[in-house]
Parts: sequence; C-alpha cells; structure tokens
Amino acid sequence: MAGEGKGLSRRRLLAGAGGGAAAGAAVGFLGGRAVSPAEAAAADGLDLSRAYDFYTGDHQVGIATPPQRHLVFMSLDVVEGTTAEQLKVLFARWSAAMATMMKGNPVGSVEPTRSNGVPQDTGEAYDLSPASLTVTLGLGPGLFDDRFGLAGRGPKLLAEIPRLPSDELKPELCGGDLALQACADDPQVAYHAIRDLVRIGRGLVTTRWTVLGFGRASAGKGQKTPRNLMGLKDGTRNIKSEEDLDEFVWVADPDEPAWMRGGSYLVTRKINMDIEVWDGTTIDTQHLTIGRDKAEGAPLSGKKEFDTPDFKAVRDGKPVIDPTSHVALAASENNGGAKILRRGYNFTDGLNSLGQLDAGLFFIAFMKDPATFVDLQRKLGRVDLLNEYIAHVGSAIFAVPRAPKSGHFLAQELFD
Ligand code: HEM
Repeated sequence: MAGEGKGLSRRRLLAGAGGGAAAGAAVGFLGGRAVSPAEAAAADGLDLSRAYDFYTGDHQVGIATPPQRHLVFMSLDVVEGTTAEQLKVLFARWSAAMATMMKGNPVGSVEPTRSNGVPQDTGEAYDLSPASLTVTLGLGPGLFDDRFGLAGRGPKLLAEIPRLPSDELKPELCGGDLALQACADDPQVAYHAIRDLVRIGRGLVTTRWTVLGFGRASAGKGQKTPRNLMGLKDGTRNIKSEEDLDEFVWVADPDEPAWMRGGSYLVTRKINMDIEVWDGTTIDTQHLTIGRDKAEGAPLSGKKEFDTPDFKAVRDGKPVIDPTSHVALAASENNGGAKILRRGYNFTDGLNSLGQLDAGLFFIAFMKDPATFVDLQRKLGRVDLLNEYIAHVGSAIFAVPRAPKSGHFLAQELFD
C-alpha cells in the first residue's frame, strides 16, 4: 500500500501545478479505486500545493517552518574582487527569485519565444507544485573580512566555530561565505531552487560544498517524530513553542544590526555514522548510548515518548539514564536551561572507499547565540557515548538575516 501511495504521488507531481485545475480528474488508483490528485497526495500525508510566503518582514522561512521531507544545502564562496554593490544586486535578484519559486513559479522563461534565446529557468520544476518550498539565506564570517567592503558590518556574534573535541573535520566540507538552504516535500523542487539560484549568482559566487538530505531528522511543532539513520526518533524534545523560539532562537539584541533582528544563527555539522558498527551493537548498548529506548523513543526513566526524563532516577544503585548518554549530556536541564532549535536531515553519499554505507546526520541548528552550540558540542565531543559511532566531518556557521517586507530584499540595510 505504501508503495502504491508513492507511485500515486509521483503521478500527482507529473500532473503538476495544473493539478489544481484538474482536481476532478483521476490520476491513479488507490485500493483499486481511481483517485484525484488531491486524494493521492493526501494518501502520502502531503499537501504539495502548500506555498509559503517569502516576504514575512520578520523571520525567514525554513527555520521554525515544520521541516519538509527533503533538503538541498549549498555553501558558496564569493569570488575575489566582487564589490559590495554587486553583492547588493545579487541579494536583490536572489530574494526575488526565492519568492517566485516558493510560489511554484519559474524564475523566468522556460521556453523563450526566440528560437536562439537561452531559457532563464532551467525547467525541471516547471508544472510541479510549490511543495512547501522554503529557501533560506545565510551569511558566513568570510563575507565580513576585508574583501568586499563589508568589514565591520557583520553581526556581533558571527565568528568561525573553534576547534572542538572529537572534531575530524575535512576542510572541503567546512565553512563558506554564503549558504542557501532549500527544503521542500518534493526533492526536485528543492534541487531546482538551488540550481537556479547558483546560476543567477554565476560569476560572483562559486560552489564550495553541498549536502542532499532526506527523511527530516528533527520534528517541528505538530509533527510526528521522524527517525534518523540509527533508527532513533529524533526531535522529541526539540523546541516547539513560540516562547522558546523567542527565548532561544530569534535575535533580538538591540546591539545587533537591524537586518539581524528577527534573524538567527545557523550552525551545520556533517556527521558521519559508523552504520555497520551501530547495526552490530546490542539493543541494550544502543539504549544506554542515547538514554532512550528505540521503538517508543521513551526516556529510560519513563514509558512513553513524551515522558519527561528523570536524570536523577537510580536503579540497583546506578543511574537509570547514564550521565554520559547523549540525552543526559544534551538536555537543557543539564546545561543551565540552554536550548537550540534542531532542523537536521539524514544524508547518504553512497559508499565509502571500503564499501561501507557512507551516511549520517546533516545536523542543522538555529540559535540566537552560537556559543550555545559551542558549549554543548564541547561537552558532547568529550564524553558522549555516541562518539563511538559518529564522526563530525563538516562544520559551518552563518548569520541568517530577518526576512524582507514586500518590495525589499534580504539584508538590504547591510548595504545602506
Ligand atoms: C549523529 C549525531 C546525533 C544523533 C544520532 C543524535 C540523536 C539524538 C536523539 C535520538 C535524541 C533524542 C530525541 C530528541 O529529544 O530529539 C537527541 C536529542 C538531542 N540532541 Fe542529538 N543527536 C546527534 C547530534 C547532536 C548534536 C551535535 C547536538 C548539539 C551539539 C545534539 C543536541 C541534542 C539535544 C539538545 C537533544 C535534546 C536532549 C533533551 O532535551 O532531552 N545532538 N539527539
């Protein structure tokens, strides 16, 4: 049945944006019965017609937005010699293109009327639904060095992440002057967005590294908890309330530049998992390592997924949740109340040179102060039982400006 659902939704995609108009037409069969495009998508639990507004004038989308199913993340460098004026024009063009694509529209002609014209839009998302596309822009610390006339204009807390315990970073998977995060419920829609934005930036920006993510690994408000590639529910105790977003995620400091207020800081970590080793580990050790059970996702001190963990509980003279388990080390109760918003995705790069599964978690987190991540990872990197099965190979930080109002563009005041 699940397979049937998938096939149907692909047909729905082929029916595309015109699917709304053709809502009455049957596009496939579910349980032997002809169904409409809307029914087919609903069978997958998806509303592919959903479109988010880019011009919120407040927070950028793709942060508190419930995580979609697919991610394309691109880190870019700005070409030496690019001027602030050229970057300003690029941000204006990118903003317009993001807003257009989020509505499900192409960024220009797909089929120019002149036979010798080059298409402005690459076309692979033509006729597809918006699929909840969000595109989020981040600015890396390098943007504010002395290369582009923006020195001294950067956000207060934007600085490279220091070396942390257990780091096994590969320079080619780290850093970047700019970041584009596209998330959508249709992988082709997310891919198209990044491809066309990179194309618009050609000559001014070059690609640095990219990650394709799937099967979101962190739940947002109102979502069922998905699982990461270790088979564990991930996102159970993620930030889900407006109060927590205000307290821990959105920048409000009056000393930050105006274009950052309502924005956030974005930290990425590409984390490889030793999947074969994890898969050969006993279930008791898996539970001990995380501090939660696998099927239900309940803390070891409780029975149900959303039971509050009791880090003080003792059985037979031993703590029920090991103090070096992942959740004991990461929980806000044990970190002076600090919280981050996790929005990561599973990824796979196929096989490594030994023929093992090359896969893991592309960790993405948003916070108002990057020190929260640094302090947390300094602790996790030292003693987390999970370190036996993972390696942090990529790392980057970006400042995420507030979203513009209609008629404006991202980080506009940066160039005033
Ligand atoms: C591959 C690496 C990782 C895996 C497999 C992983 C997995 C998990 C799982 C299964 C949970 C429990 C469910 C939940 O509350 O979401 C969890 C919780 C959490 N993780 Fe991770 N995680 C990883 C890396 C990280 C990193 C790098 C950080 C931050 C530096 C982090 C921060 C947290 C936090 C803050 C919680 C919530 C703890 C609580 O309040 O109980 N995780 N993680």
